[in-house]
Amino acid sequence: MSEIADYVENAVNQWQFARSAVKQKSSIIREILKDSSKPGVINFGGGLPAPELFPLDLIQQSCTNVMREHGKEALQYSLTVGIEKMREVIAWRYKQQGVDVTTNEIQITGGAQQGLDVIGRVFIEPGAVVLTETPTYLGALQAFSFYGVKYVSVATDGDGAIPEDVEIKIKEHKPRFLYLVSTFQNPTGITISESRREQLVEIAKKYNCPIVDDNPYGEIRFDGEDVTSLKAIGKEYVIQLGTFSKLISPGLRIGWIASNPHVAPIIERMKQAMDLHTNSFSQYVIADFAAAGHLDKHIELIKAEYGKKRTFMLDMLKKYFSDKATWTTPEGGLFLWLKLADHISATDMLADAIKAKVAYVPGKFFYSAEQDDSTMRLNFCNATEENIEEGIKRLASVVNSIS
Ligand SMILES: Cc1ncc(COP(=O)(O)O)c(C=O)c1O
Repeated sequence: MSEIADYVENAVNQWQFARSAVKQKSSIIREILKDSSKPGVINFGGGLPAPELFPLDLIQQSCTNVMREHGKEALQYSLTVGIEKMREVIAWRYKQQGVDVTTNEIQITGGAQQGLDVIGRVFIEPGAVVLTETPTYLGALQAFSFYGVKYVSVATDGDGAIPEDVEIKIKEHKPRFLYLVSTFQNPTGITISESRREQLVEIAKKYNCPIVDDNPYGEIRFDGEDVTSLKAIGKEYVIQLGTFSKLISPGLRIGWIASNPHVAPIIERMKQAMDLHTNSFSQYVIADFAAAGHLDKHIELIKAEYGKKRTFMLDMLKKYFSDKATWTTPEGGLFLWLKLADHISATDMLADAIKAKVAYVPGKFFYSAEQDDSTMRLNFCNATEENIEEGIKRLASVVNSIS
């Protein structure tokens, strides 16, 4: 056996892999998920929603309905853009939120992550510049890197990307697009303020630089005032990515790109070459679930539960971390951002944390340029309250042991 393995390894070592494939790194989050799945580890690391809230019975009911009513279509090849019913649900939901998006502007994708890959194919070639927030979503950095992107990060504060810096960097670098996670950002939980939204769109229009707004969390608000969707303000200048991963379940793998009538056909061609179309069965299931009125109710449930967990984690941080760190107070979403004393490396500390049976994602991986390694992302929605308290306590003792 081992001779065969050696033979295969030697052969493979001589193959000429694409440079882009060899350079592609595995996501630190996936690596952490491997370690954190060890028994007893409390995981604040992954972007996992709360499994106890998955609407198992209702999804089962929708699966049955789909097999009965659309079985043959659901199991057959279907259109690249996505099934009509699914796109109608999304367009209708946009309308409810005051955003004018028609079905022909919507492309269904295999989650928002595939949406990012499609956007990469549509806009990026080696050396092309993309502007990102500081920090930004790690999965986007990974997706765009494959296409040889050059990142330029823009200054960001508690109200999101700073328009003056965006304008300077657009003028200097002529980017393909400005990438934002506008609402309850992954990783910080920060939301771009209403006035900044207007300013950013104005700049996008002035310099004809599209905004890609990756928005998995916008509907999960449990505190504060609603903000206007960037898509509503910027219309055809904003390409918005959405997903049902956090609203229902990531396992269904359904997301979308809402663009404009000129870009949608290009997006469709890129997507077609990737996988012909997204899983039809999942699309039918979600369309059925939404048409039966379950989606809005389920989102209300998620908002209530995540809001409680967020508040509980903040209380635990006050209790165990008050003199050791600062943190954001997100009004929605799944994540908050913790900043330790400058001399502490959250990356170096991770091995100790996992030994102490608690996991997080070191913040440094969310930066496209200069990194702040004394930061970390914490997911507050996946653990039970009991585990949140225990996990924060463990984390605090790891920090105490090194500071
Ligand atoms: C900002 C952002 N974009 C995209 C994704 C990927 O989502 P999906 O599960 O829909 O592929 C995530 C998931 O955590 C995310 O936070």
